[in-house]
Amino acid sequence: MSGLSWRAGAAAITGLVLAVTVAVERAGDAEGRAPRTEAPAVAAAAPRIVPAPVSLQRRPGPAFTLTPQTRLVVRDRRATGVAELTAVLLRRSTGYPVPVTDGASYGGHDVLFALDGPASLGDEGYTLAVHGRGVRLTAHAAEGLFRGVQTLRQLLPGRIESATVRPGPWAAPAVAITDRPRFAWRGAMLDVARHFYGVDDVKRYLDLAALYKVNVLHLHLTDDQGWRLEIEKWPRLTTVGGRTEVGGGRGGYYTQEQYTEIVRYAAARYVTVVPEIDIPGHTNAALTAYPELTCDGTAPPVHTGIDVGFSSLCVRAGVTYRFLDDVIREVAALTPGRYLHVGGDEAYDTSRADYKAFMAHARQVVRGHGKRLVGWTQVATTPQDPDSLAQYYHAAHGDDPRTKWAHAAADQHMKLIMSPAARAYLDMKYTAADRLGTDWAGLVDTRTSYDWDPVTFIAGLSPGDVHGVEAALWTETAASMAEVEYLAYPRLAGVAERGWSPATGRSWADYAPRLAAQGPRWTVLGVRFHRDPAVPWPAGTGGETTAPSGG
Ligand code: ACM
Repeated sequence: MSGLSWRAGAAAITGLVLAVTVAVERAGDAEGRAPRTEAPAVAAAAPRIVPAPVSLQRRPGPAFTLTPQTRLVVRDRRATGVAELTAVLLRRSTGYPVPVTDGASYGGHDVLFALDGPASLGDEGYTLAVHGRGVRLTAHAAEGLFRGVQTLRQLLPGRIESATVRPGPWAAPAVAITDRPRFAWRGAMLDVARHFYGVDDVKRYLDLAALYKVNVLHLHLTDDQGWRLEIEKWPRLTTVGGRTEVGGGRGGYYTQEQYTEIVRYAAARYVTVVPEIDIPGHTNAALTAYPELTCDGTAPPVHTGIDVGFSSLCVRAGVTYRFLDDVIREVAALTPGRYLHVGGDEAYDTSRADYKAFMAHARQVVRGHGKRLVGWTQVATTPQDPDSLAQYYHAAHGDDPRTKWAHAAADQHMKLIMSPAARAYLDMKYTAADRLGTDWAGLVDTRTSYDWDPVTFIAGLSPGDVHGVEAALWTETAASMAEVEYLAYPRLAGVAERGWSPATGRSWADYAPRLAAQGPRWTVLGVRFHRDPAVPWPAGTGGETTAPSGG
């Protein structure tokens, strides 16, 4: 490892790295024009990117600088959407016009969005060549361009995130980066059932996560405390079941139109929304709205507490199957992604025989409406299809007996999404002194949530068993976005890195300074992150030493 070069690529990708580096240099020579103004000297510090790219090499020579002349150049209409989103971001803070233009050539202050990258980059891979002759961002698919833009943002000063005009300079160091994800699924789950969060809050949660290359937004839409998605055939689910939340607040719900707006917003950012309808347990809100879904036909009291495992759809009632078919049909129709999450966890009020019968049926219904099933780990105790996914969430320090459910999934060729609570549950307290959060899986400080590997976490799994990772935020104790963000950051960034970056070369010592560099960025973005004392935050970083209240 030399002073100018840092590389964490596995041997398997070395060929790709070399091929792309050559392509980048050729492009720069052939297309770069001389910079129009004097570029500042190369910044001394190594760029600090989260998630760590597969390969990052410092280049000699001048930095790249955004100027009033900067254009975003596209040569392929498929790149226009990403370029337009990038332009909006850059205009806000620089105050420059930043036009998006079609064009063959690009100059020293321009950013080229090219889609002539090799197929070996996959949909999400990209290369990024940054120097005084301009920026060339290259991918094989527009999605890869979007991921690359997140890296470019982090090469620029944190104030590039500002919603209002700030003074420059806007320099990014000369680098050559080649990057692609380790796992296909890098999720962030937000529980909008325990406390409800509106469309703009969800968009903000998504935008922050997308900065760390998260590509799945899993919305936990239904639980005992509230049903949050309008189902046209069963309107009382939301008009009655949506009116509560933990602590007795007003709750709320998304109309199908509002939900579609979230899905559309996510898709423009190459994030897939995975809706979760948690059944057959976690259904008290539905049962209050439609007592015929209970076995005795009596509406239970509304639930505004935080205990779990006491509610169940009446699995033997015919109406339950009509309900299931209607709900899954409508949710599937709102879901362009291939996955639909049916929960299936903690159904302690459902007999084992009923649970098996119900999940066999749910499997057919989800498939019948054209989707693949995702469920929490317990679904793997029932027969499922090999293209279904099981989301592993137990506290598990490797010896948890429930790791056998992860093996049960692998044995039937389902793949796993790894969300072990003792690492990836963002609602665990950081320290015993925290006011917010719970601690049933232990205390999970920033380092603990980073220091694990999704494949080796459970003994006996192989890389092919793991489809990805997900950071899950349950909102029993989080009643405001300030509280949500305090719990999510910094931990969400670390879980996202576990999903994106190669396993080789990961360490807390390497990660902590890169994470610290996110502090000023979050400060500009107004994120009320937890200022974990183990992270070497630079001067001028905000953050909260104790949980913010309200906000
Ligand atoms: C869960 O934490 N019950 C999925």
